[in-house]
Amino acid sequence: MSARINPSILAADFANFERELGRIATADAAHVDVMDNHFVPNLTFGQPMVERLQQVSPIPLDLHLMIENPDHWAPQFAEMGVFSVTFHLEAATAPATIARNIRAQGARAGVALRPGTPFAAIEELLPHFDQLLIMTVEPGFGGQSFMPETMPKLKQAKDWAKRTGTDIWLQVDGGISATTIEQAAEAGADTFVAGSAVFRGEPAEEIERLRTLANA
Ligand code: DX5
Ligand code: ZN
Repeated sequence: MSARINPSILAADFANFERELGRIATADAAHVDVMDNHFVPNLTFGQPMVERLQQVSPIPLDLHLMIENPDHWAPQFAEMGVFSVTFHLEAATAPATIARNIRAQGARAGVALRPGTPFAAIEELLPHFDQLLIMTVEPGFGGQSFMPETMPKLKQAKDWAKRTGTDIWLQVDGGISATTIEQAAEAGADTFVAGSAVFRGEPAEEIERLRTLANA
């Protein structure tokens, strides 16, 4: 398995997204944090923005919806031709139906868990999904510290995938850097979102460094 590195453009220069996407062209996907100021206390990108990013991005878009009512919105985002759409379990009414509607648009369906949401809350529904996002910070802001207490949940997910022979991607997001990525890889993650760690230095070098550490 080769680790996937998805830089979060939440840490990019908001006045220059086309150029910023070019700086992360060697990454596996660009992680786009959609926030509605309701599910989380922060506001970022709406649909017209995502649509335009999709047109100019040299790499696939990995959407992370931190919004209320994903039942309504997630399929609409999937319609834009993005690679994956991940919504929060805590905000969803009918998660399996949302997953089906995302997949019907040709996108990978993902579900995210806040640090306080247990693995048991999603276990039975996991066969409906292509990827599971274990948040390693409280969603809402970049630049927060990695929460090591979320690692047992990641291990539970990895054990479940092995036990059931399910090919599901396990993603981590929040505080991922050269100092934390190895423990997340060790616990079973295969897809790593990193915002500040990638954009703070030279993105291409950081992407390569993180990938090497995660694959070690
Ligand atoms: C937080 C977002 C993350 C954020 C990560 O709610 O979901 O994707 O951009 O930023 P860093 O890597 O700086 O913790
Ligand atoms: Zn995110």
